[in-house]
Amino acid sequence: MSEGLVTVSYIAATILFILSLGGLSNPETARRGNFYGILGMAIAILATVTGPKVTSYVPIIVAMTIGGGVGIYAAKKVKMTEMPELVALMHSLVGLAAVLVGYANYIDPTAVFSGVEKTIHEVEIYVGVLIGAVTFSGSVIAFGKLSGKINGKPMLLPARHILNLGLLVAAIILGKWFLTFEDHGGLLPLLLMTGIALTFGVHMVMAIGGADMPVVVSMLNSYSGWAASATGFMLSNDLLIVTGALVGSSGAILSYIMCKAMNRRFLAVIAGGFGTGGGSAAAGMAPEGEVQPISAEETAEFLRNARNVIIVPGYGMAVAQAQHTVFEITKLLREKGVNVRFAIHPVAGRMPGHMNVLLAEARVPYDIVLEMDEINEDFPETDVAMVIGANDIVNPAAQEDPNSPIAGMPVLEVWKAKTSIVMKRSMASGYAGVDNPLFYKENNKMLFGDAKKMLDEVLKYLQG
Ligand code: TAP
Repeated sequence: MSEGLVTVSYIAATILFILSLGGLSNPETARRGNFYGILGMAIAILATVTGPKVTSYVPIIVAMTIGGGVGIYAAKKVKMTEMPELVALMHSLVGLAAVLVGYANYIDPTAVFSGVEKTIHEVEIYVGVLIGAVTFSGSVIAFGKLSGKINGKPMLLPARHILNLGLLVAAIILGKWFLTFEDHGGLLPLLLMTGIALTFGVHMVMAIGGADMPVVVSMLNSYSGWAASATGFMLSNDLLIVTGALVGSSGAILSYIMCKAMNRRFLAVIAGGFGTGGGSAAAGMAPEGEVQPISAEETAEFLRNARNVIIVPGYGMAVAQAQHTVFEITKLLREKGVNVRFAIHPVAGRMPGHMNVLLAEARVPYDIVLEMDEINEDFPETDVAMVIGANDIVNPAAQEDPNSPIAGMPVLEVWKAKTSIVMKRSMASGYAGVDNPLFYKENNKMLFGDAKKMLDEVLKYLQG
């Protein structure tokens, strides 16, 4: 493929990526958005591989076969609940790629530059390796935290801010040193900076508490975009620069949305320490009241007698894969004239849009799936608020207890409904490790058990 044709293909791919992002912002157009993304990526790969810069196909075919094989295997094997970990792991690969491309570019004997060109080339390499290394180690730690292999508790070193500042200053000094070398001789400062960037990535994510993980996931998403963009600069590949910038900026916007959803400032998130992850009610008030367990039959009775029902899905619905039964119950109740709607918290589950994906998969109509801001005021006029495997996102302590580790985080006010029913297996805390006073409220009932199993029973009673 000629250079001109490659450029045209790259422009087409860029437009498709922008259309894809636009499509993915709405459940009704998400499928189309996904298709644009696939098409754009296919064009991008084809144009790059058949372009004039490629001289040998064998290594590319081998790499694509291995990479594609791993990708297909992972996509087939990974459960929906493990998706956030997989995404974190993939971000780490983007970071690693940026680091490796940076080193390869630096030691490439054919890359001979002088004057300003040399400085620009080396700054690109230095910044690319820096962002890549932070993304790589930060994402590996995020993977560990999301999969429970590393404790969610924030690791707060005594002088952590000074340590971070020290690392930043050291990286700048090393950068100046790196630029003074001729003939690819600056490997030592590059290696030292890589070590510093890797340490910074680990330290930054280790300091972030369980409750802030949604912001970290989107932040690393953004970093991976900037790392890809930096790789694009190193390889003089315009498409990679633009695509990286698209991922980087959309990740940054997502981080902003997540921060707003959790009422947190971005810098405060980076500073770390929010959400102990240690399951301590000690940090907040001890809940008062009695827990009232009910049966599936009683739950069915509550639903049958209700006129307005709001369902609040959470991570537990994803674990139990209960979304299809939830849809069956919704259909049945709607046929009986009950007004059933869904309330979606922006950080419900373990990844952005987690609940929307599950409900869309179960074919729940989009018009009854509402965002927190659209529905939170309706709880006082609701007969039954049915909480399915959610915990942190319905925790009144966020509003009522200023000492709670999640104080200030906006939550769905299910306790304002006439009756709230919480479906979960035990009294265990959620991701943020905070006790939930909702379970002890007078108008709250607990339906203990696996969400899928219990909802199957509820459905049976509703049908009978
Ligand atoms: P959580 O607060 O984590 O609560 C989920 C609850 O589901 C648990 O308390 C658990 O209680 C229950 N559960 C687990 N398996 C179940 C099953 N098979 N059947 C029934 N219940 C089950 O979830 P949430 O309310 O959705 O809140 C999300 C949390 O994750 C927030 O703290 C958020 O900050 C964090 N987070 C979110 C994201 C994104 S981007 N959405 C990313 C990382 C972290 P039992 O063990 O008693 O059953």
